[in-house]
Amino acid sequence: MTDTEPKDIGLAIVGCGTVGRIRAMLAKDYPGVKWLGLCDINEEVGQKLAEDSGADFFTGDFSTLLKRPEVTAAIIATDENFHVEPTLLAVEQGHDLFIEKPLATDAEESARILSAIESSDIDAVVGYTQRFRRRFIAVKEKVSTGQIGDVTAVVTRALMNRMAPMASIRRTNDRRHLTPMVVSGTHSLDICMWLMEGKTPVSVYARSSDKLLGKHGTKDATFGIFTMDDGTIWSMNISWALPVAWPGAVYGLEIGIIGTRGVIDIEDTHRDVVMASEIPQGAAVQPGGLRTRLSAPRRVHDQLPARRHVQWGALGPHARGDELVAREAAHGQEDPPRDRRRRPPQPDAYDGDGPVG
Ligand SMILES: NC(=O)c1ccc[n+]([C@@H]2O[C@H](COP(=O)([O-])OP(=O)(O)OC[C@H]3O[C@@H](n4cnc5c(N)ncnc54)[C@H](O)[C@@H]3O)[C@@H](O)[C@H]2O)c1
Repeated sequence: MTDTEPKDIGLAIVGCGTVGRIRAMLAKDYPGVKWLGLCDINEEVGQKLAEDSGADFFTGDFSTLLKRPEVTAAIIATDENFHVEPTLLAVEQGHDLFIEKPLATDAEESARILSAIESSDIDAVVGYTQRFRRRFIAVKEKVSTGQIGDVTAVVTRALMNRMAPMASIRRTNDRRHLTPMVVSGTHSLDICMWLMEGKTPVSVYARSSDKLLGKHGTKDATFGIFTMDDGTIWSMNISWALPVAWPGAVYGLEIGIIGTRGVIDIEDTHRDVVMASEIPQGAAVQPGGLRTRLSAPRRVHDQLPARRHVQWGALGPHARGDELVAREAAHGQEDPPRDRRRRPPQPDAYDGDGPVG
């Protein structure tokens, strides 16, 4: 067989939660995957996915799975703090790898994984899903072919609803490294470093705040200034403590890339999705996760004072609460069904909504 011929894949997925499920259901429909094995320490979650995806094998022990003779490739989709051991074992077994971000939550462990991968001949990627989105591929092409000249400065702003960190930290008491940069900012960091390929940071100055989430063992926001080896400056920040009224847990991302001959301004903020600017009384954030997340928009709406400014779907940016209520009354219902809150089909509808975590 030559290198260009497709290989039959025996796929092991370690971690059958939200993301492991997405990967397994895709793998089920991909003809190159001839064998699918799953592992989760939560037997109920894992068995349910095994059933839904028609997996060939399920175990609660990642070592048993990764040592199966059918396995040629592995996806590591465990919680952020539990990537290291299964990843190192997969490398040792010579399996090609897809590791969900971050590589590890501790810098030394990340370095250990990187070194193990580099000294093997496996093909390994980290799940930086932004790189596969059409808008970023288009920007990459423009920057790398010099269409805006030499890049001299980049500015990145990432905003996230605080439900994302609450979901991450509820899974563990070891929260030392579950910071906005490590867990979620890593997506923005990666996409910007990818767009600036060839430039290496030589210094970073960063500050964080923790007024809200400090009591839960994490931080609210981190702002940093990077200087690259060619003098390019890059200002990057992430805030993941936004009120629950901020729409969804997806990133609101903006990137400005300034070149000597042109500028690229990327708006990836999902402003056409529900937006509300204030946290309503009583919409408490608990480390409860999904239920809080799903019910938050309803609570925001239920308690919306008549004159609070909101943006919602087809209503303009200055629609008022009473207009919202009138619009709903015209549809004969109190609260719109979820699918009416989704943005209408867009030319780039297949571009995806970006990462959720
Ligand atoms: N690319 C993206 O856009 C994106 C989006 C969300 C999450 N993620 C990343 O994907 C990973 C998984 O996130 P999630 O939201 O699916 O989490 P999740 O909590 O829904 O799922 C994690 C699963 O791993 C299992 N698990 C934990 N330790 C294990 C072990 N030692 N062996 C076997 N199973 C184990 C848990 O029981 C759980 O079912 C995280 O690293 C997260 O940061 C990536």
